[in-house]
Amino acid sequence: MSGNARALADSFDLEKLTPEFYADPYPTYRALRENTPVKRMPNGSYFLTRYDDLVTAYKSTRAFSSDKKTEFAPKYGNSLLYEHHTTSLVFNDPPAHTRVRRLIMGALSPRAIASMEPDLIRLVDMLLDAMAKKREVELIEDFASAIPVEVIGNLLDVPHEERGPLRGWSLAILGALEPVISTEAFARGNRAVQEFLAYLETLVERRRAKPGNPSQDVLTRLIQGEENGERLSEKELLHNCIFLLNAGHETTTNLIGNGLVALLDHPEQKQRLIAHPELIKTAIEEMLRYESSNQLGNRMIVEEVELGGIAMPPGTPVTLCIGAANRDPAQFPAPETFDIARTPNRHLAFGTGAHQCAGMALARLEGAIAISRFLARFPHYARHGEPVRGGRVRFRGFLRVPCRVNGSKNP
Ligand code: HEM
Repeated sequence: MSGNARALADSFDLEKLTPEFYADPYPTYRALRENTPVKRMPNGSYFLTRYDDLVTAYKSTRAFSSDKKTEFAPKYGNSLLYEHHTTSLVFNDPPAHTRVRRLIMGALSPRAIASMEPDLIRLVDMLLDAMAKKREVELIEDFASAIPVEVIGNLLDVPHEERGPLRGWSLAILGALEPVISTEAFARGNRAVQEFLAYLETLVERRRAKPGNPSQDVLTRLIQGEENGERLSEKELLHNCIFLLNAGHETTTNLIGNGLVALLDHPEQKQRLIAHPELIKTAIEEMLRYESSNQLGNRMIVEEVELGGIAMPPGTPVTLCIGAANRDPAQFPAPETFDIARTPNRHLAFGTGAHQCAGMALARLEGAIAISRFLARFPHYARHGEPVRGGRVRFRGFLRVPCRVNGSKNP
């Protein structure tokens, strides 16, 4: 290992990240994996970068808890952000987690997801038509972010004319999960939870009065509960609807945005996908691995464990670095290479174990339809200015990607 890499690993502090790190975190992740794969942070938590260590953490729900009530208390105090994040299923352990997950999974069955495909194709083609008229487009606003907001809106059957504020609320609430947040970001997050709750209360009231089809409409399903009488409390219902709306937004936007930018950065892979559209499934997996839209996960040690020769007592927080694990050479040959036909590709972009992403089949479908139809329509799309990154460590993606879509040959 070079002195430079060692210095990168030694100086790494999740609470003090540099602009170079935000632009390209992978040299740091590599230095950590090779030098200190179980790295102690100045705040006493550990940062994990090896694939196998992440799998261990994800699979050992007894020792690695997802419950954030203790951890979030100093960060959020007695606020709506605290109430929201600690009620979401992703930040709970069984039995609360199991109950909510079962209800949500029932509405995300393979059949329910397959039935969304025709609407999704129509939506994507409509966005492509609108872009074709413009020549110069902004890939995130005009395309990548417009897809998940509609899909998740459909999932909860939010009326079209009421979807406007959803993306802003979602960005503000998820933004508050960054390792360090400003007073403004905290206030923005709280305001977003408050407005989102107020909106959902009216939506739930209307849906109770006029229920939808529970096999397709997640909100009706969550309101009605299971046939065996399993129901969510009002608080659980509202916060998990917010969570669902958020979970499917920024992550999927970033899959589509990161994927289209990765193809621009690797013109030979772009040409390969155009020549072999049947590679779209493995291409989506590679986009998820190479630039994972969700880069960090968190767990709290609740039973003493040992990782990389380090004993961790109960009460130790750990950060699971998905972005680093997905480039671990022990799991992926030539991990820094973007190869759209890579198989096997057992990446951790959706996590694994009990909390593995409940929406992954939907995200994969959205990604495959969006990217394959975009490429078929605009094979010569090209940059038109520098893309602007989102500036976040947890959710990696772009805020803006200016492009030309109608130009002639130019990879
Ligand atoms: C590319 C898109 C997506 C990525 C990268 C992603 C990533 C993840 C990850 C890493 C987790 C695990 C968190 C943990 O264990 O700590 C997760 C959980 C979850 N995701 Fe996704 N997600 C995506 C899209 C979606 C969509 C479209 C939905 C909803 C329709 C969704 C719903 C959920 C839910 C409900 C959970 C919580 C599952 C649980 O705690 O049991 N996600 N996601």
